[in-house]
Amino acid sequence: MSQFPLERLRRTRASAWSRAMHRETAISPADLIWPLFVTDGHGVEEPIASLPGVSRASVDIIAQQAQRAVDLGISCVALFANTPHALRDETGSEALNPGNLMCRAIAGIKERCGDALGVLTDVALDPYTSHGQDGVLDRDGYVVNDATVDLLVGQALVQARAGADIIAPSDMMDGRVAAIRSALEEQDRPNVQIMAYSAKYASAFYGPFRDAVGSAGLLKGNKKTYQMDPANGAEALREAAADVSEGADSIMVKPGVAYLDIVYRLQQSLHVPVFVYHTSGEYAMIEAAAAAGAGDRDAMIMETMIAFKRAGATGVLTYHAPVVAELLHAR
Ligand code: PBG
Repeated sequence: MSQFPLERLRRTRASAWSRAMHRETAISPADLIWPLFVTDGHGVEEPIASLPGVSRASVDIIAQQAQRAVDLGISCVALFANTPHALRDETGSEALNPGNLMCRAIAGIKERCGDALGVLTDVALDPYTSHGQDGVLDRDGYVVNDATVDLLVGQALVQARAGADIIAPSDMMDGRVAAIRSALEEQDRPNVQIMAYSAKYASAFYGPFRDAVGSAGLLKGNKKTYQMDPANGAEALREAAADVSEGADSIMVKPGVAYLDIVYRLQQSLHVPVFVYHTSGEYAMIEAAAAAGAGDRDAMIMETMIAFKRAGATGVLTYHAPVVAELLHAR
């Protein structure tokens, strides 16, 4: 029997330079997508109670935040609209208004930052409907697929015409990627990307987002007839394969931390860029844990980010994006 361990895995961990040299995974500010909430008015920046450190902002402030993203080396921002309640209706018709908050924000960012920053826009009707569901309802309150897809195509075109670089359908209707892709081709927008939320789960980790876009108080019931069952993995492969065959350039898994197996399986099997959505509830969990003294905030954030990359993610959509970028620059 040997007097010493045959493998000393601690050898390469013994000093900082060696740990750095053997590190398998890295994250950079360019991997980040920063979500921003747009609200009405001018000079408005209102904190969101359930999302400490995140605010809704008017278009002028959104343009400043976009400039901050560029300065930090963040690649892209994702926009969500807090539509004034008076403009919400049964079919979410404000989503098709070329002068809506979302379109004004896209234009404001493009004017300020040009091509230095990507603009990703969410396609789904929930910030525009009076009932908070992502699509239109039939008499029984069921979200109707095909009629919703027609509206989502209109919403996507309005965003693309305003200057959106990436259309991100988060609604989970069947066939919407093909419908949006062919409309973009027909309308002479062949280079507008589609990032499909392929594996979006009916999750308990979206709570603060629904506060942020003002749909929390409106939503009755749940989204389980269109968002995926958290128990399912193989189904995510089918969803993603369908979206890719319909013309998606990249896919999204949402939420993140509890779904790293899905990120891994998609990345291994489909060979397409896979992005992770670190959701509002996941953000809030870290902030609450840190505030309660249960852990080091910055370390918890960075460990979460590297785990996404290790699982195979190309990039991460996270409310922590500016914090992550600043921590990376401070190294
Ligand atoms: C809506 C949408 C949601 C999120 C992004 N787009 C909420 C939902 O599906 O109810 C959640 C984002 C987050 O929690 O940060 N289509």
